[in-house]
Amino acid sequence: MKQQSNIKLVLENLIKEKKATIGVIGLGYVGLPLITEFCSKGFRGIGFEVDPKKVESINSGKSYIVDVPTEKVKSCVAEKRLSATCDFSSLKECDAIIICVPTPLRKTKDPDMSYILAAGEEIKKHARSGQLIILESTTYPGTTDEVLLPMIEETGLKLDEDFFLAFSPERVDPGNPQFQTHNIPKVVGGVSKDSTQIAALLYSQIVEKVYPVSSARVAEAAKLWENTFRAINIGMANEMAKLCRTLGIDTWEVVKAAATKPFGFMPFYPGPGIGGHCIPLDPHYLSWKARQHGFDSKFITLAEEINSSMPKYVVELVRDALNDEQKPLKGSKILILGVAYKKDIDDMRESPALSVIDLLRARGAEVFYHDPFVPEVTFDHAYTIGDGEPLYNQELTDELIKSADCVVICTDHSCIDYKRICELASVIVDTRNALSEEIRNGSKAKIIRL
Ligand SMILES: NC(=O)c1ccc[n+]([C@@H]2O[C@H](COP(=O)([O-])OP(=O)(O)OC[C@H]3O[C@@H](n4cnc5c(N)ncnc54)[C@H](O)[C@@H]3O)[C@@H](O)[C@H]2O)c1
Repeated sequence: MKQQSNIKLVLENLIKEKKATIGVIGLGYVGLPLITEFCSKGFRGIGFEVDPKKVESINSGKSYIVDVPTEKVKSCVAEKRLSATCDFSSLKECDAIIICVPTPLRKTKDPDMSYILAAGEEIKKHARSGQLIILESTTYPGTTDEVLLPMIEETGLKLDEDFFLAFSPERVDPGNPQFQTHNIPKVVGGVSKDSTQIAALLYSQIVEKVYPVSSARVAEAAKLWENTFRAINIGMANEMAKLCRTLGIDTWEVVKAAATKPFGFMPFYPGPGIGGHCIPLDPHYLSWKARQHGFDSKFITLAEEINSSMPKYVVELVRDALNDEQKPLKGSKILILGVAYKKDIDDMRESPALSVIDLLRARGAEVFYHDPFVPEVTFDHAYTIGDGEPLYNQELTDELIKSADCVVICTDHSCIDYKRICELASVIVDTRNALSEEIRNGSKAKIIRL
């Protein structure tokens, strides 16, 4: 008992005095903003990465994540508060270790736990008494206490006597200038009471509001509930878009009108499909776990079905628009505007634009794209039905826009001059409501909106 309270006390003091060394495993969209936040609040941070290029970039003071300014990384490195390494033996130096590795799906759409297991193995090799370990990667309820806890206990170290373990979901919204790490409330659930307390204390050093819950499972489930809520509501918006189109009603005007209700309604918008590392994947983590217990989550299945039908629906809109011009899809020149999965970011993971391009190419269209954030688009040959050859960003010249038989707005980046597109293009399919009423009214182009 004496040893337990000592370790807890020592760790608490290290955190309060900002003398704790924070290790972050995985320096991607989640890990890099997190570690730089700790470092700029005065902590020493060590980033652990398997990608040597990222390690090199950080150590030379350069950011590769749009939301993390290079200036911030540079000053943290210059003040010797931030470093990155591929050598996991330095995990021993860390008082707190936060795991931010990917949690993708296997081809079977089951959770791919290999990254969490690899991080767990490294912690197991280098763990010492007196550490706080936190998992931030999105995962199914039960991962922290069913998978990580036994792994760490295999070292002989004991929960609450030697180490503390918690789950705290990451809610970062890449490209959102209003909400960043420091002002997004942080849910924290430990596998023990002490674990919750210490993890909450750690996060309270860098975020304005920490919300402790009774267990790691609650925290894990809360994250999946949030993202399942989004996937299902986007699925509904996509279905409403198809429904409104069938009835000849303007979807965007309907949702704008409905959103004037000050309570009981939250607007979600249709689009060419869902993308990113979270919304298309996370609900599967929940439904997979539910299935292990004989529960079939119907909403998740339905939303997935509707959302994944959207790229094909967009291609049908393009086909119909060209048909009205007496042009076949085969051989037509299609310019895709925006390929990142959402506006103003460079993230291509699960981007629905990839499926739109792939389907168009499979039907014989000649596809070009312009996206100032994405220099090159590659296709996973295991999934492509088109030719699968990489594509490169094209300069958005007047000639390019004019030469396209159809322009498809897949991502509504703010830096695109949509008025110019409307002046020069002949046929436009707008999947994001990027073209305002004013721009549309002044245009001679044939415009089809979702
Ligand atoms: N991107 C988001 O917007 C977001 C938001 C909330 C939650 N999440 C969740 O956070 C987790 C991380 O997502 P991300 O977007 O930062 O992924 P990412 O791919 O951008 O970054 C993960 C990093 O981990 C590194 N990595 C992989 N295996 C490693 C290992 N064994 N040791 C050390 N580093 C390793 C990769 O090289 C990569 O740099 C995922 O579970 C994701 O679902 C992401």
